[in-house]
Amino acid sequence: MIRSLDHLVLTVADLQATLHFYGKILGLQVRSFGEGRFALHFGAQKINLHPVGGGLMPVAKVPQAGSADLCFLIRGTLEDQIDALELAGIPVELGPVARSGASGAIRSIYLRDPDGNLIELAEPLVEPLPAVPRTAFQLRPATTADAAACLEIYAPIVRGSHISFEHDVPSQVEFAARIARYRESHAWWIAEREGEVVAYAYACPHRERAAYAIAAEVSVYVAPQAHREGVARALYLELLAGLQQAGVHKAYAIITLPNPSSLAFHESLGFRPLAQFPAAGRKFDRLWDVAWWVRELG
Ligand SMILES: CC(C)(COP(=O)(O)OP(=O)(O)OC[C@H]1O[C@@H](n2cnc3c(N)ncnc32)[C@H](O)[C@@H]1OP(=O)(O)O)[C@@H](O)C(=O)NCCC(=O)NCCS
Repeated sequence: MIRSLDHLVLTVADLQATLHFYGKILGLQVRSFGEGRFALHFGAQKINLHPVGGGLMPVAKVPQAGSADLCFLIRGTLEDQIDALELAGIPVELGPVARSGASGAIRSIYLRDPDGNLIELAEPLVEPLPAVPRTAFQLRPATTADAAACLEIYAPIVRGSHISFEHDVPSQVEFAARIARYRESHAWWIAEREGEVVAYAYACPHRERAAYAIAAEVSVYVAPQAHREGVARALYLELLAGLQQAGVHKAYAIITLPNPSSLAFHESLGFRPLAQFPAAGRKFDRLWDVAWWVRELG
């Protein structure tokens, strides 16, 4: 099974011109390795540079300079990038244009590197939050008196699944304290139908250190009898709108795998995969992977 992409290889005709373009103009980190080899680093990935006819083996069946088409996500705005390219005398062939990137909507420009490879530079766009839909459920902030009803939804998940990483069902007192704590720092919403609590969603601190206050962690639990009726969507939109208003820029969902319903649900609300932690926790005597998904709130 594939976990992630480690590196790509770019065949280049003129190594120095390539290092100048990617290092000085696009700002990628140039590092040397092995015997006189060079790579362009960004985050946890890199692109190794293979000079044409450089004798490195093995290589692709048809190694060719100028046949690649690469898309990089940029920091900052596309307009700043366009100014920098103009100063460097590099023409933008197309754009800005709207595109779909691997992690959501992007705005792109297209240019060429010294070999004529097509380079797309893209700025991630924040998808606006849809309005909270009209729903047959009554949504309201939770109180500590909702602890028992929320636990009724949560306890079977703790006991019977890997979805929650708690090993033991928390007591009602402990759960009430959790509601109070999360309401104090962020929010906890309830959905009722005919007076019965059928779902809840909350936001809580992502990490304790002050700088992390730009982000929050969110989660939602729906009683089985109310699945696929739009209640989680309504609760999340209420929750995310509140976070956005409070100046929170990112909502993280931390999802133990497998959980196809949760992945599909989060994807439908504009969350995108950010990282996956293999064998991140032990429950029921086995290890489970955990995925972190993010929803940019602007
Ligand atoms: C994941 C969960 C919260 C979804 O709640 P829900 O109220 O059924 O979801 P909604 O009806 O609001 O669904 C909104 C959209 O999410 C997607 N979705 C939700 N459940 C899905 C499923 N089982 N399969 C595929 N898509 C799903 C769909 O796009 C859906 O829109 P649609 O019904 O118009 O196609 C619910 O299944 C649940 O409580 N699961 C157990 C607890 C859990 O996993 N919580 C998340 C912890 S990370």
